[in-house]
Amino acid sequence: MSGSLTFREVEIVPPGGAPPYIGDLRIEDGLITAVGLVDRAAGEIIDGRGLTLLPGVIDPQVHFREPGLTHKEDLETGSIAAARGGVTSFLEMPNTSPPTIDRAAVLDKHARATGRCRAHFGFFFGATPTNAAAIDDVTGLVCGLKVFMGSSTGTLLVDDQAALEAHFGQGSRVPIAVHAEDETRLRQNKARLSALSLDVSSHPLLRDVETALLATRRAVALAERFQRRLHVLHLSTADEVELLRQRGRDGLVTSETLPQFLFFDSRDYFRLGTRLQMNPPVREAHHGEALMAGLLDGTIDCMATDHAPHTLDEKARPYGEAPSGMPGVETLLPLMLHASAHGHCSLTQVALWLCEGPARVWGLSGKGRLEVGYDGDVVLVDRRRARTLRDEDMSSRCRWTPFAGWTVVGTPVLTALRGRPVVRDGVLQEAVFGEALIFDH
Ligand code: DOR
Repeated sequence: MSGSLTFREVEIVPPGGAPPYIGDLRIEDGLITAVGLVDRAAGEIIDGRGLTLLPGVIDPQVHFREPGLTHKEDLETGSIAAARGGVTSFLEMPNTSPPTIDRAAVLDKHARATGRCRAHFGFFFGATPTNAAAIDDVTGLVCGLKVFMGSSTGTLLVDDQAALEAHFGQGSRVPIAVHAEDETRLRQNKARLSALSLDVSSHPLLRDVETALLATRRAVALAERFQRRLHVLHLSTADEVELLRQRGRDGLVTSETLPQFLFFDSRDYFRLGTRLQMNPPVREAHHGEALMAGLLDGTIDCMATDHAPHTLDEKARPYGEAPSGMPGVETLLPLMLHASAHGHCSLTQVALWLCEGPARVWGLSGKGRLEVGYDGDVVLVDRRRARTLRDEDMSSRCRWTPFAGWTVVGTPVLTALRGRPVVRDGVLQEAVFGEALIFDH
């Protein structure tokens, strides 16, 4: 990482909840070396007047589909979508084909990502009913162990108590991330509702609040019993927020939620159909309000996208055959800038939930803060520039967004990896690639 990049007179969003201020920031040889007033600037100088500088966004939950499902996305296209959305680091899920369930599959993902990904990358290891001991083969190579407690896209599922105990009790320091939906409840709901002709608006009935709550409760109990670090992925209910709020924060259990759950509610099924179908589901508006309250009061640690691309042809199948999931890595930051522009949260909170929060949860030392000594992963945004989101402008191979037609205020204008611009004004730059993330577990 050689070279120097300086932003002059830019609005800087500092860490730790402090308010933004106008200053300079310099990155040299990949690291932030000065913040505030830069007296000596060599290399490229960017006039930041009227613009805002945030730490590069960390998306801690994406599905980039490689290997095996690359007609939907691959590590390169997914990472380009990330970089264009101001995301400089991502953590990728194991439900690929084959799934990432042994050391060879993890090494294969690293080999595929190196020299191709346009953002820094980390990978989850997938839990199976029988691979609990295998985590010791991949410690240091993966960000976390992903446990699908309820079935979703792909074949991964661990719902048997003994198998869950084997994973939680393994004694590893690698955090466990759960897809918290209770498989037994899900099957009961399916049986109970099978006589009815369901459409996508019934998705939140099939995967109801109890389905999520039961699994989250079970995962928290396991984490407490075995004192194993737990992260609850994509919280979707007011009830889970309350459970975690009552439990209090002790660093053992962390959680995230998604923009889909804040910006959509169950009425949107009538407009968007199966485009909006995902697991866990988008629910009634009061859940979204409770999730936002959970972010605002610090019960929820961070945001992710659960970027889960499927083609529009696949999504056009009838409910029951259409796959669950929607893309989002490219729209996370614009949407949250939009939310802050409309007074739903502050810019500082956006940085907390999208940068500092995920860095803390996943032990990404050197990431997520605009501070001397931190990595020079940054995103420069124009907080006033509005843009109408359109399917055809998306970089994801699936080429659509559930937010098509929305005009959002807040647009990334430059994304840099360790001080090297990877996207400028939406245009991908040559020969700038991400690196494997290092986890401080
Ligand atoms: O809706 C979802 N889609 N939820 C998941 O848990 C997986 C994801 C996918 O991979 O498509």
